[in-house]
Amino acid sequence: MTAFFTEEGSADAVNARMGKDVNPRLKEVMASLIKHLHAFAKDIHLTQDEWDIAIDFLTRTGQMCSGERQEFILLSDTLGFSMLVDAINNRRPVGATENTVFGPFHVIGAPEREMGANISLDGKGESCLFEGRVIDLHGEPVAGARIDVWSDNAEGFYDVQQPDIQPKWNNRGIFTTGADGKYRFAGIKPVSYPIPDDGPVGKMLGLLGRHPYRPAHMHFLVTASGFQKVVTHTFVGDDPYINSDTVFGVKETLVAPYEHVKGETAWRSYFDFVLTPVGTSVAR
Ligand code: BEZ
Ligand code: FE
Repeated sequence: MTAFFTEEGSADAVNARMGKDVNPRLKEVMASLIKHLHAFAKDIHLTQDEWDIAIDFLTRTGQMCSGERQEFILLSDTLGFSMLVDAINNRRPVGATENTVFGPFHVIGAPEREMGANISLDGKGESCLFEGRVIDLHGEPVAGARIDVWSDNAEGFYDVQQPDIQPKWNNRGIFTTGADGKYRFAGIKPVSYPIPDDGPVGKMLGLLGRHPYRPAHMHFLVTASGFQKVVTHTFVGDDPYINSDTVFGVKETLVAPYEHVKGETAWRSYFDFVLTPVGTSVAR
């Protein structure tokens, strides 16, 4: 019998339309999406006005996107969805360095720098020495690991947000470990900053009584042959936003020591990256 549309059977009516030769994974994904989307509308008794507002919001979100701005990723980030997808796909053994949100400010092709080099090119901020090791789960050094790092400047902006103000590649660099697995570079102690909040996502945060700030952090992308890629940050623990990161990126294991030291460098942050072999599976 033809499955006419009814309120009760709405999701089934839509899913029954799927053809026979649909890709099985697409079928699974779409069937679940329709089921949960319809259940959501019923759960909250969605009004027509509310749905019109939602359509307008999504339209404005799309219109805000450009080569330099990805408002949908900001939406995913601020809804905690980016962190959820990352968590599902990067379950690691206890002791392994955890992932966090990638963010929109990584740039491919940063300069490869000598171990110990300074990535802060604008001379602003409190200098900080970042050092530690890249090791495996047994504590053995990982040689040839690439550590791609990036951070905001002392005023809370990435170089790509201020191309006419900051030097190109300010606070960015790539370092490669030697046989001892050690890394070392100078930068600045990161500062907290708001995510771009002049679009619909910023408006949404305001309506929800949420601030747009991220606690201070240094970004790291660590890759090494035979190991899972680590996309992570180290966070400054005494940051005022440490418990309310607007994109939910903070994990306890990623709060790193940032210690004040006298002498040439004002701050020092030591952190070991513990890599997980490719193919390691961890049950939930
Ligand atoms: C960042 O840390 O660079 C970032 C992450 C998510 C959204 C915006 C910025
Ligand atoms: Fe960041």
